[in-house]
Amino acid sequence: MAVLVTGGAGYIGGHMVLALLDAGEKVVVLDDLSTGFRWATPEAAEFILGDFGDAALIDSILARGDIDAIAHFAAKIVVPESVTNPLLYYENNTAKARILLESAVRNHVPHFIFSSTAAVYGEPASNPIFETDALAPINPYGRSKLMVEWMLQDVAKAHPLRFVALRYFNVAGADPKGRLGQSTPQATHLIKVAVQAALGHRDGLDVFGVDYPTRDGSCVRDYIQVTDLIEAHLLALRHLRKGGDSLTCNCGYGRGFSVLEVVEVVKHISGVDFEVRIGARRAGDPAALVAGADRVRDTLGWLPKFADLATIVRQALDWERRLHNLTLGRS
Ligand code: UFG
Repeated sequence: MAVLVTGGAGYIGGHMVLALLDAGEKVVVLDDLSTGFRWATPEAAEFILGDFGDAALIDSILARGDIDAIAHFAAKIVVPESVTNPLLYYENNTAKARILLESAVRNHVPHFIFSSTAAVYGEPASNPIFETDALAPINPYGRSKLMVEWMLQDVAKAHPLRFVALRYFNVAGADPKGRLGQSTPQATHLIKVAVQAALGHRDGLDVFGVDYPTRDGSCVRDYIQVTDLIEAHLLALRHLRKGGDSLTCNCGYGRGFSVLEVVEVVKHISGVDFEVRIGARRAGDPAALVAGADRVRDTLGWLPKFADLATIVRQALDWERRLHNLTLGRS
């Protein structure tokens, strides 16, 4: 059997492709290369250039009958962009996911793994956050993903499709073997921006708000290493193939770091005291998001290996250097 990985040329989806191939799985990547890179997909995987909201294309892929699971990573993921362009998020993350799901049902695909997000919780009443806590997203990004979770729950009741929805906290770091990392040049995520600042690939870093009700006033996030996150997906696939029930799990470590703490770690590991400017709050940011991560450990048997911020930062720095050299080599 094969796994269809939408967004498989992107950062997180690309790590899924590597892990599936490492595990001896057959992989079909579907990506429109809007933010992903063709070079991210190894020869061993089949690559299809296209849109996961193109029903005819999805039907043609699924009709072959060899795909027993869809791992759906393709999405728009930038919270502030979702605030200024909400319809882009509802189209891409919600409406197109409905088309993909419809095709999955039509073609009798039994298993679906969905990249959801901690943003479905909005501004939680307390941390850590558990899956049973209130769902109250405060930005269009979170709402666009939560609607897909709801669709999955309804579809799984009506049709023979089971799913695992994984609510990612803040994904960072890179493949420990150095094969892949976050490669989007305009990436907005904190650790990526900080390592770019440390390596002089951008001019310093702006901290978006130090007036939050947190220990130092900057936002607190649960940074999860990308390979650890992907391990949860492999376990989810195994769970579904063994006949396990549909499931929704947080993916984080259960501890948080503030923006200022992350900046300090990046400065320390890189040995570069880059410029840090304290600025205003960014639209759509909750103060703190820390995962209650018992369910993913207990139900899927998840055992993270890289739950150390210094390791995550080191990997991100190593990848950023390598990416810079690769880019220079190609130009
Ligand atoms: N930040 C800065 N300066 C920067 C970049 C980020 O201060 O240059 C701050 C943000 O304001 C925020 C924190 O760093 O407080 C983390 O921001 P990121 O952009 O790295 O990530 P987000 O928390 O906004 O969002 C990410 C994912 C979402 C996911 C969320 C869950 O993009 O998909 O984590 O915690 F929902």
